[in-house]
Amino acid sequence: MEVLDYDIVILGSGLAGMRAALQAARASDGKARIAMISKLHAMRSHSVSAEGGISGVLYPGEHGDSEDLHGYDTAKGGDFLGDQDSIELLVKHAPEEIKLFDHLGVPWNRDAGGKIVLRAFGGMSIPRTAFASDKTGFFMLSALYDNLIEFDNIQVFHEHMATGLILDKGRFAAITALDMATGEMKAFVGKAGIIATGGFARMYGFTTTAYSSTGDGAALTYNAGLPLKDMEFVQFHPTGLIPSGILITEATRGEGAYLTNSNGERFMERYAKNKMELAPRDIVSRAIVTEIEAGRGLSEKRFGDMKFVHLDLRHLGETKIDERLPMVREIALKMIGVDAANEPLPVAPVAHFTMGGIHTNINGNVMLNERKTTTGLWAVGECASVNVHGANRLGSNSLSQCVIWGKIAGNAAFQSLHDAGLTTELSAKTKKRIDAEEDKLHKLLESDGGENPYDIRKALWRTMDLNVGPYRNVKALGKAKKDVAKLRKAFNKIYVDDKSLVYNVNLRDSIELRNMLDLASVVVAGALGRRESRGGHARRDYPKRNDKQWLKHTVAYKLKNGGVKLSYIPVKITKWKPEERKY
Ligand code: FUM
Repeated sequence: MEVLDYDIVILGSGLAGMRAALQAARASDGKARIAMISKLHAMRSHSVSAEGGISGVLYPGEHGDSEDLHGYDTAKGGDFLGDQDSIELLVKHAPEEIKLFDHLGVPWNRDAGGKIVLRAFGGMSIPRTAFASDKTGFFMLSALYDNLIEFDNIQVFHEHMATGLILDKGRFAAITALDMATGEMKAFVGKAGIIATGGFARMYGFTTTAYSSTGDGAALTYNAGLPLKDMEFVQFHPTGLIPSGILITEATRGEGAYLTNSNGERFMERYAKNKMELAPRDIVSRAIVTEIEAGRGLSEKRFGDMKFVHLDLRHLGETKIDERLPMVREIALKMIGVDAANEPLPVAPVAHFTMGGIHTNINGNVMLNERKTTTGLWAVGECASVNVHGANRLGSNSLSQCVIWGKIAGNAAFQSLHDAGLTTELSAKTKKRIDAEEDKLHKLLESDGGENPYDIRKALWRTMDLNVGPYRNVKALGKAKKDVAKLRKAFNKIYVDDKSLVYNVNLRDSIELRNMLDLASVVVAGALGRRESRGGHARRDYPKRNDKQWLKHTVAYKLKNGGVKLSYIPVKITKWKPEERKY
C-alpha cells in the first residue's frame, strides 16, 4: 500500500474540515503539510446543502440580545444536556466567525444601510441568524474552498473512501483510504489527525441528509476502540418535503410561514403558544406527529402514501419568497410541482441531524476513555459530540459549531506539531495494522454470499424510520435492536457485485453500510438505555425528563463480540440551572 506522510491529516471536507485546514495552513504560515481527504469531490460535502443560516450575536445590546441569552437559549433548547462550558465557548466565538466569512467572501444578506440582516430561528429568543439567502452552506463552503486551494501546502484528496483509523498507544498514527479512481489503498500517516466526516442520519430512509451522510468517521473511531457519546439523540426536522424528505428550511417559519392541519388550524398554539412554529425542532416535530396520529393530518395521492401537514408561505408574497427563500420555491416546484407562492407545501418530520458522535473534550480532542484524551487526534463538526447541542440542537447553531471547532482543532493540530519527539515513523505493529486494512478491504471486495447489501440498507432504513423516530418505546426499540442485529449478521454474508477496482461504488456503498449498521446498533442501545424523555429522545413509556437519574451523557464502546457497552458521565452545568422548558 502506498504510504503518504503528512504533518496533519484531515478526514472530511465539509465546513468543519475545511475550516480546520484553513486554520492550520494560516497558523503554520503555509508550512505545515496538510492532507484533506474526502470521499466525494470536496465541494459536494453535505455542508453545501445547509440552507437557513448561522447563529451568532452580531449586535449585542440590540433588541436585548447578548451572548448570555444565546447561551441560555442553546442550553434550554438542548433540554439542559449540553455541556455549558462548550456552550459558552460557542456563543463567544460565533460572531467573529460570521465576520471572518464576510471577509472570505460570503454574500450575507444586508439591509439598505449595509448591515448584516438577522432572521428568526426556532428556540432563539430573538433573531440572531445570519444568512445568505437560503443557500448559506453553499456560500460558506465555496468561500472556504476558494481560499484554501490557494495554499500549496494543502493537498486535497477527492474521492478517497476512508477504511480505517489507526492509533499507536493512544496517539494518532494513520488513516487508510481507498482511492475510488484507481481502487488502490493509501495510508495517510500524520503527526496529527482531525476527523470531520459529518453526521449519520442516512441510517434513516426518510432524511434530509445526503446519501453520503453515513457517519464514516464516527464508525472508524468506534471500531478503533474509542468512545461515542449521546448517540440516541437524533434530531427530526419538522419540515421535510413529502415524499423525498428534502429539507424545507426552518427559515420559512423564521420568515413567517405557518403550519396548519387538515382543519386549517395553526395547531402549534396547542403545543407552544408563545413561540408557535418557532419552538425548538423536537417540540414542533412531536406536535406534527401528534396531529397526524389524532387524524388531523392530510394525504394526497399525488404525494404518495405519507401523511403530512401543511407549511403555508402564501401570505409572505412572491417578492419576499423570491428574495429570502428562492431555493424553497425552486425545490418544491421541481420536486413536486407545487408553487409555494400559491399552494401550501406538504411536510412531515424527517431525520436531519445527529447530536451524538465521537466523544471529545471541550477542545475537540478525541477521548480515549472517560478520563483520558488521545494524543494528536481531534474530531469536529457533526461527527463530534463536543456537546454543545445537548439533547436537541437549535437550528443555525450547527454551522457556528462547525467553524468554531474547525478553527480550534486546526490551531491545536498545528501547535501539537511542536511536541517533542513527534515522528511519523511507524512501529512494526502499526505497519501490520495498516496492512491488515488492505486485507480487510480485499476480503470485502471478494464477498460472495447470498445477501444483497442494498436490501440490507433498505431494511435498516425501514426499521429506523418505524421504530427509532421522534417517539420511541421499549417495544419498538427492542424490535429495532433485533432487526439491526439480524442485519449485521446478514452483512457478513453479502455479495459485492462489482469486482472491479475503478470507481467501485458497490464496494464503497458496502463500507458505508457497515458503518451505518455499527452506528445504528449504538443509537438503539443508547435509546433503550435512556429511560426518560429529553429533547430529541422522547419515550412514550418514560414521558418525563428525569434530571435526578438522567442528567448525564451516554458513553458507548464497542465490545469484542460486537455488542455495545454503555456508561454515563456527568453534564457540566455552569450558568443555567435546568428548568422546565416552556415556549
Ligand atoms: O432549516 C434549516 O435551514 C436547517 C438549519 C440547521 O439545521 O441548522
